[in-house]
Amino acid sequence: MVKITYHGHACIELNDGKYDIIFDPFITGNPVTKANPDNLKPNAILISHGHADHLGDAVNIAKRTGALIIAPFELADFCQKQGAPNIHPMHIGGSYNFEFGKVKLTQALHGSAFVTPEGTHYTGNPCGFIVNFGGKCFYFAGDTGLFSDMKTIGSLNSIDIAFLPIGDNFTMGPDDAVKAAEMLQARTVIPMHYNTWPVIEQNPENFKEKLKSIGINCIIIPFNNSIEI
Ligand code: NI
Ligand code: MN
Repeated sequence: MVKITYHGHACIELNDGKYDIIFDPFITGNPVTKANPDNLKPNAILISHGHADHLGDAVNIAKRTGALIIAPFELADFCQKQGAPNIHPMHIGGSYNFEFGKVKLTQALHGSAFVTPEGTHYTGNPCGFIVNFGGKCFYFAGDTGLFSDMKTIGSLNSIDIAFLPIGDNFTMGPDDAVKAAEMLQARTVIPMHYNTWPVIEQNPENFKEKLKSIGINCIIIPFNNSIEI
């Protein structure tokens, strides 16, 4: 069994009873989460790109817990320079077998930089992740537009759960995410990256209906809730 907790936005935590991993831990400043970053105890933190709504609390959580940061090379290096004690840099197309499972980085059509009032820090290319964890195959798309190689990702991996952004404006909107789901042939799709702010407001029920009409299963996890699969 894998417990999937949706902390809102793109922050998703997976726990198989032995290991806990978290994607894009944007907690501080996330208007929809009730999580407290001081209570999170992940073994690994997977970060898709350097935007503040994804990098989030990653470095602080890593400093407190010693969690391993897994990210594209330039972003992992940035986290190390910010004080993260353990990093594992990777890059798109590469995979690695960690204690908790296998991780492969996929492309994502997006930007990646950490922007502060003092300046813009280059954090490499954005990515998505294929993660084999707790006996299931997860695809976390990250922030991305639709790309036709999702068909290849779907043919190379038997995806149990695909986390797809549906918010539009910065990423795919619901219609493109339906096309993505078709190409990926995922058994179940879980929408993310919506309703954090008005600019990415969407009704996930409409997305679910569209998927249902083409025979694809969709689970909407309300913010701050968990499911077990
Ligand atoms: Ni982004
Ligand atoms: Mn984002």
